[in-house]
Amino acid sequence: MPKILVTGGTGYIGSHTVVELINKGYDVVIIDNLFNSTINVLEGIKKITGTKPEFHKFNLSNIIFTNNFFKDNKGIDAIIHFAAFKAVGESVNNPLKYYGNNIMSLNNIMAGMKDYNISNLVFSSSCTVYGQPEEKHLPVTETAPLQKANSPYGNTKQIAEDIIGDVLNAENNLKCIALRYFNPIGAHESAEIGELPIGTPSNLVPFITQTAIGLRDELSIFGKDYNTPDGTAIRDYINVVDLAKAHVIAIERLVNNKNKKSLELFNLGTGKGVSVLEAVKSFEKVSGVNLNYKLVERRPGDIEKVWADTKFANNELGWKAEKTLDETMLSAWKWEQKLRN
Ligand code: UFG
Repeated sequence: MPKILVTGGTGYIGSHTVVELINKGYDVVIIDNLFNSTINVLEGIKKITGTKPEFHKFNLSNIIFTNNFFKDNKGIDAIIHFAAFKAVGESVNNPLKYYGNNIMSLNNIMAGMKDYNISNLVFSSSCTVYGQPEEKHLPVTETAPLQKANSPYGNTKQIAEDIIGDVLNAENNLKCIALRYFNPIGAHESAEIGELPIGTPSNLVPFITQTAIGLRDELSIFGKDYNTPDGTAIRDYINVVDLAKAHVIAIERLVNNKNKKSLELFNLGTGKGVSVLEAVKSFEKVSGVNLNYKLVERRPGDIEKVWADTKFANNELGWKAEKTLDETMLSAWKWEQKLRN
C-alpha cells in the first residue's frame, strides 16, 4: 500500500485522518512538533486501529530538519499537510508567528516533494478564503470569488493556495488537492481521539462541552442581531470523521492519477447552515444538559453566515458528509466526558 506522510498527524483533523488511512491499509508516517497536540494521541490511534504509526517530532519550518527527514525517509507516495497554526485571534496579535510557521513549512515540504520526487499533496485549506460571501454566492461554491482575508491566519491559507498553484505550474510532475474545510467538530465515535484545545477554547463546540462539564461557567454566544432567522451567526459544521474520510478519497484520487487538473479545490462541508443557537440546542438535546449561556456582543472579525455548496465534492469525489449534527454533538460530548474522567 502507498506510504503517506501526515504532517500535523497528532492534531485534531490529522489524528482522525491517520485513523481512516490506517483502516484502509495505508502505511502512515507522522511528523508533528507537538506544539498543539500531545504524544498520547498515538495511543488513541493505536487503540482504535491496532497500529501505532511511525512518528517524527520536529518543526517543519526548519529547512534543515525537513530536508534531512526527506533524505532519510524515501518511498513516500503522498503527503497530507495539516501542520499549521490555526487560531484566528492569535494570528491578529502575532502575524509573524503565523506567516513564519504556516508559509515556511509549506515551502519546505514542497521543496522536499520536488527534490525527492513525491508527486502528491493534499493540503488543508479553509472556507475562510471566501470571507463573507455575498448573498448570491450562498451556498458557496469553489468558484465563488475569494475575498481579502480578515486575519493573518486566513491570509496564510490564501497565500498557501497561491504558492501551491505557482509551484505546480513550474513542476509538471507535482499535483495537489486543496480541501477547504468548513467548521470541523465532534470526535471519533470510540472517544479515543478528539479535539484537545490548549487553554481556553476559542471554537464553539469545545467551549460548549467544557461549559457543560463544569470547566467554564457559561458560554457567551457572540452576536444576537445578525441577519439570520434567530439572529445568531450561521456556519456549516462538519463531522471530523466525515472530513477525515474525504482525505483518504483525495489520496486515492491522486495516487491513482484520477485528478483532472494538477490543482483541484474542494469545499468540504455538509451543505447545511446551522446557527449558534441551533448548535447549542442540538447539544442540549443529545447530552441532556441545560447549558448556561448568554447572548453577548458580536466577536470582532466574525462573519455572519457561510455554508458550503457540496455538489462538486459529492459528484467528483463521490464523498458526502454522513453524520447528523446530533450524532456529531454526542461524539463531542462523549469525548469531553472521557477526557475529564
Ligand atoms: N462562537 C460563540 N461562542 C464561543 C465560540 C464561538 O458564539 O465561545 C460562535 C462564533 O462567534 C461563530 C461560531 O460560534 O459564530 C463558530 O465559531 P468558531 O470559533 O467555532 O469557528 P469560526 O467559524 O470562527 O472559525 C472556524 C475555524 C477557523 C476557520 C474558520 C473559517 O476555527 O480556523 O472557521 O470560517 F478559518
